[in-house]
Amino acid sequence: QVAIAVGACACYGGVQAAAPNPTGSMSISEALGIPTINIAGCPPNPYNIVGAVVHLLTKGMPELDEIGRPVVFFGETVHDTCERLPHFDAGEFATSFDSEEARNGWCLYELGCKGPYTYNNCAKVKFNRLRPGEQGVNWPVQAGHPCIGCSEPRFWDMMTPFYEPS
Ligand code: SF4
Ligand code: F3S
Repeated sequence: QVAIAVGACACYGGVQAAAPNPTGSMSISEALGIPTINIAGCPPNPYNIVGAVVHLLTKGMPELDEIGRPVVFFGETVHDTCERLPHFDAGEFATSFDSEEARNGWCLYELGCKGPYTYNNCAKVKFNRLRPGEQGVNWPVQAGHPCIGCSEPRFWDMMTPFYEPS
């Protein structure tokens, strides 16, 4: 038997677990005392949810990282696969959301992007796929918003303030 925890609430207690966690919110794993496959994210990517189920049915248990996330989906950082990475490497950072540089794909690190510290495959699979076999149409950083680290444990405490560089 195996349980799949879907999303930041099931995996890590959710934003209601933010310090001082007045309701004692916790993960499914902590609440039930069982191991879980964690499909982290707020929102979790639907391809990762379905992918975990298909992997279980066709290949068995996926390899997990040390916090229960399937390595096949969470093995690389957002930063490693980001299309704005060449600008990061060149030291080209957008300094405001409405700037020409931000629209032209410059790196959002100075606007608070947590992509270097966040493991997820958003840049590769994206969201809102229209047809089978196609990539999704967009993802936060492509749309011009910094990654807020939503697939990391307690990102509501660990990745804040969201709009300042770490
Ligand atoms: Fe890395 Fe974020 Fe810059 Fe992309 S926008 S290269 S994820 S810091
Ligand atoms: Fe979440 Fe960052 Fe992806 S905020 S949806 S892990 S780009």
